[in-house]
Amino acid sequence: MGRHSDDRAPTDGAPRDDRPVIAHARALVKTYGTGDTTVRALAGIDVDFVRGELTAIMGPSGSGKSTLMHCMAGLDDATSGTVVVDGEDVSGMSERQRTRLRRTRLGFVFQAYNLVPTLTAAENITLPLDIARRAVDRDHFDAVVDAVGLRDRLHHRPNELSGGQQQRVACARALVSRPAVVFADEPTGNLDSRSSGEVLAFLRRSVDDLGQSVVMVTHDPSAAAVAHRVVFLADGRLVGELAHPTADTILDALRELG
Ligand SMILES: Nc1ncnc2c1ncn2[C@@H]1O[C@H](COP(=O)(O)OP(=O)(O)OP(=O)(O)O)[C@@H](O)[C@H]1O
Ligand SMILES: [Mg+2]
Repeated sequence: MGRHSDDRAPTDGAPRDDRPVIAHARALVKTYGTGDTTVRALAGIDVDFVRGELTAIMGPSGSGKSTLMHCMAGLDDATSGTVVVDGEDVSGMSERQRTRLRRTRLGFVFQAYNLVPTLTAAENITLPLDIARRAVDRDHFDAVVDAVGLRDRLHHRPNELSGGQQQRVACARALVSRPAVVFADEPTGNLDSRSSGEVLAFLRRSVDDLGQSVVMVTHDPSAAAVAHRVVFLADGRLVGELAHPTADTILDALRELG
């Protein structure tokens, strides 16, 4: 990517050294529809996501970012290719096995916060564990709540929280079960710049302080700059990546990719 060619890996989606990979895809293809109306959302993607890193996925609207995330996270079934998450072959799983994987090993944050309006922040955060009838690790719950800075809002309902606070509750909910990977699709898409900053700082802290692995789709170069690495998609293909990104190098890369 231009003047930062030192940071450019061969565009095979692999990190440049032997860092441990928490999730990867090989030759991943996803098509929607049949015949004349076929859309090739993923046209053969090879990508590695590194354990203990925040990876951002960027690319134009329709380039396949959400599709990639959904196929990686077992929310959608790929047409062909392989997906492995935390040592499990997601591509070979039944719907039921994928549901179990999502419940027990993955965390999700979406653009719409998807909180339950009748539950308090604290109850929303522990809901996935309660549904799975798993015990809440109180020390970890406290660490997550302190990291999101929500200690004094725990007993409020979503309609008593700002958008940024609601999204931080959603982040805490994704993290409280210590998932192998957190997948976040435009987590700051509905937030103003200050709330975005808070959510991004938290996602990064979850990596630095709690050892989490996070994959985040974003359109915003300043959001992606919080990541350790950015991968770029275009037309369902991986077309570049950038290590140690800054908003400037990301903008350069986006310009170069057209
Ligand atoms: N359920 C579906 N049925 C048919 N086509 C779909 C479906 N979901 C996605 N697509 C198509 O697949 C392509 C990739 O979509 P995807 O949602 O992955 O893009 P994206 O990069 O996340 O875009 P955005 O930035 O707008 O969210 C698009 O052409 C889209 O129209
Ligand atoms: Mg999308």
